[in-house]
Amino acid sequence: MEEKGGVPLLTAKLTAQLAKCTVFLALAATLAACGGSPTGGTNLKDAPSDIAAVYKARCLNCHGNDLQGRVGANTNLQQVGSRMSYEEITAQIKQGEGLMPGFADTLSEKEIDGLADWLASKQ
Ligand code: HEC
Repeated sequence: MEEKGGVPLLTAKLTAQLAKCTVFLALAATLAACGGSPTGGTNLKDAPSDIAAVYKARCLNCHGNDLQGRVGANTNLQQVGSRMSYEEITAQIKQGEGLMPGFADTLSEKEIDGLADWLASKQ
């Protein structure tokens, strides 16, 4: 009789695992739906999709879904290319400034380069 105890337990564990998976998948689907929604902002539409994804993940919180800036006038990037060169923007992303963290360790050269290139075109 005692050996049988293992089977229902295993089944219960599997069911719990499946439930977690389902929750995760539902969450992933919701996030994917968010990414594709038209609220991406007009200023984000011309970014290459991989760069837009990096922006959304790392920059949007402070700089807004339309580059309008959410934490003060200095965070409006809609015309950042007319104030800053590509090199300056690259340095800003790598080193950060004030409330903005540096991303030298968390983003790849290619990602930083892509962001700077795209933002420099915002004039
Ligand atoms: C935690 C909030 C925060 C995040 C996240 C953030 N920034 Fe910033 N960013 C700021 C703030 C605040 C400033 C203004 C800094 C200052 O002048 O003191 C700024 C300034 C800038 C500037 C210079 C704007 C100007 O006219 O001087 C650029 C370019 C910039 N951020 C790009 C980015 C990019 C690209 C990312 C994502 C990789 C990013 N930021 C993520 C808060 C943030």
